[in-house]
Amino acid sequence: MNQEQYSFLFEVYDSPDALNADDRALLQQAYETSAISYAPYSHFHVGAVAKLTNGKTIVGSNQENASYPVGICAERVLLSAASSVYPGVPIETIAISYYNESGKSDRPISPCGICRQTLVEYERRLGHPIRLILGGREGKIYVIPQSSLLLPFQFTDEDMK
Ligand code: THU
Repeated sequence: MNQEQYSFLFEVYDSPDALNADDRALLQQAYETSAISYAPYSHFHVGAVAKLTNGKTIVGSNQENASYPVGICAERVLLSAASSVYPGVPIETIAISYYNESGKSDRPISPCGICRQTLVEYERRLGHPIRLILGGREGKIYVIPQSSLLLPFQFTDEDMK
């Protein structure tokens, strides 16, 4: 029997101010984008902004529904928009931010399981890692070099061959 360990390196910053100017601006835009989310049920507003390799940016925010499972996370709204507006153009970085119903936005949130699976497929399809900047308006920031690091033992098209 062998035991194996899964781990990965990511960057931790004490606050948005510690980021470089480009990353700080992208995270700020993600925070501002959370204000245009449609979240009347959870009151949890999430914004995501992608910087593409062609220099363009695309935004996404969570879109809820009275039939709760119909709601879509900001990350998947963003990926669908990016794929529709700039098909075939890889994503360099996605910043994800949020605020909750009391306006708090002081720690990183990370994509849910379905969004991780979607991010992995996007990376594979375009053959380019997607870097993630996760953080609120204040507090610690995480920078993950590649989305697929968040999903060990992933199921992909390879597994069906
Ligand atoms: N949500 C996102 O949009 N992204 C995440 O990373 C986590 C959760 C949304 C889904 C739902 O509209 C609300 O946040 C509460 O779960």
